[in-house]
Amino acid sequence: MIGFIGYGNIGSALVRAFLSHGVPADEIMISTRSPEKLRPLLEEYDISVVNQDEVQTADILFLCVRSSDALNVLKQLTSFKGHLVSINGGILLEDLSSVYSGPVTKVMPPLTIEVGRGIVLLCHNRICPTSKTVEELFSKVCIVENLPECEFPVVESITGCAPAFFAKFAELLAESSGLSPDESLKMAKETLIATAMLLDERKLSLNDLIKKVATEGGITEKGLQVMDDELPPIVRKMFERMH
Ligand SMILES: NC(=O)c1ccc[n+]([C@@H]2O[C@H](COP(=O)([O-])OP(=O)(O)OC[C@H]3O[C@@H](n4cnc5c(N)ncnc54)[C@H](OP(=O)(O)O)[C@@H]3O)[C@@H](O)[C@H]2O)c1
Repeated sequence: MIGFIGYGNIGSALVRAFLSHGVPADEIMISTRSPEKLRPLLEEYDISVVNQDEVQTADILFLCVRSSDALNVLKQLTSFKGHLVSINGGILLEDLSSVYSGPVTKVMPPLTIEVGRGIVLLCHNRICPTSKTVEELFSKVCIVENLPECEFPVVESITGCAPAFFAKFAELLAESSGLSPDESLKMAKETLIATAMLLDERKLSLNDLIKKVATEGGITEKGLQVMDDELPPIVRKMFERMH
């Protein structure tokens, strides 16, 4: 059985990703603080909603609460004997292993896992230098990248945070257009989706795509020049602030 504690943004994305990639609903159980949030899921799938005692019988247990709550919740899991999976970027394997003496895998899934795309970062504690079960579970859904834990923070700035950065940029672009917010946000969102699809379906590099759109002397080129001049220090500042 696969157990989940916490059904917020990432807990729900993981559950839905596994369900839509072949994990049977009767192999999943969820324990969360506000079970009413499970209603839409339960209308689609027959999943066991359990309490914190029962969820500890899982073979693999995903701890999907916020980082500030994770170690406290983990301390309460006194009967759990299976494989713990943590999705909390800020909590080190060492800290998790000081509370739970069994096998622990730290993963950094992107929110996009819900639609079966993106890159999941993964590393294990000393008790399980590799874990086929957890890796195979994620491999069903998206690309799995094994990384040393020390590389997580920088890499997750791209794999985990960038969906929000791309969406924010599209929002700013829409706001600057002077069009009605409804119209411009709709256009920016559709263009974001179409851009990702074009990159994927035509196997373009980012630079190929930039060159194809920015005709010499055209308005895209003018906008890109401002980005080249002004954006690099802003992106550097974002990385400095995040790490
Ligand atoms: N969002 C992302 O894209 C993303 C990606 C990778 C990793 N993460 C990491 O995942 C963690 C969770 O983020 P999130 O965005 O999913 O947060 P969230 O939406 O606030 O979800 C946290 C969930 O945990 C539940 N919870 C809290 N305390 C609990 C307890 N004692 N027992 C059972 N359930 C409990 C919450 O219940 P309530 O519904 O009652 O609040 C909620 O369902 C963070 O550390 C974040 O860094 C997030």
